[in-house]
Amino acid sequence: MAGARPRLAVLISGQGRNLQAILDAVRDGRIAADIAGVISNRAEAGGLERARDAGVPAVVVPHTAYPTREAFDAALAAELARLRPDFVALAGFMRILGGKLIARHEGRMLNIHPSLLPKYRGLGTHAQVVANRDTEHGASVHYVTGELDGGPVAIQGRFSVSPQDTAQVLAERVMNDIELKIFPQALAWVARGELRCEGGRVRLRGATLLRPLGLADLEPEFR
Ligand code: GRF
Repeated sequence: MAGARPRLAVLISGQGRNLQAILDAVRDGRIAADIAGVISNRAEAGGLERARDAGVPAVVVPHTAYPTREAFDAALAAELARLRPDFVALAGFMRILGGKLIARHEGRMLNIHPSLLPKYRGLGTHAQVVANRDTEHGASVHYVTGELDGGPVAIQGRFSVSPQDTAQVLAERVMNDIELKIFPQALAWVARGELRCEGGRVRLRGATLLRPLGLADLEPEFR
């Protein structure tokens, strides 16, 4: 990233467990960035309180207050622009972003998704893993493109699924064992300028990834 301390904006919709992991990693110096602000599309998102507790500016851009997707997108883009972020984290942000907004942050916006992409884009990933009797599950951090949950994957954490695992059990495991580790790690790499996405290819320290990074690539402080 250019400059000494890059500015990170975080978009949320819910509880904010991923946001908390990011706040913690920034506070203890594992992510070398400043959190410019948190934006939620839902006023009741628990993550807003986590942001305020950490002394980070948090605002709500309620999607329900706008008549069209375009109007919401424009309002969100304006709030985001105000934060002047160098990079953006979608941490459980449950709205589909418009193409213009995505294009403005292309290569500098990352999303956490609870599946082993390209498997199971969209919602209901854990239930699909159970229904299909998959033997593996996990989460992915990917760069955001105009294709929903379809951008280049940077890092993915996986584990074995047992036949008795319920969707609820899987959801907890994906969150605690995978998401809360791989997202802060990916953002730390981006903040250091080590992780980049150019021309649809992800590079770590200049080396193009032939496959997504994995749990074995986590630095000790992110394990
Ligand atoms: C996570 O599972 C994330 O992958 C999904 O929404 C959930 C967000 O949870 N898209 P939280 O708000 O970080 O607690």
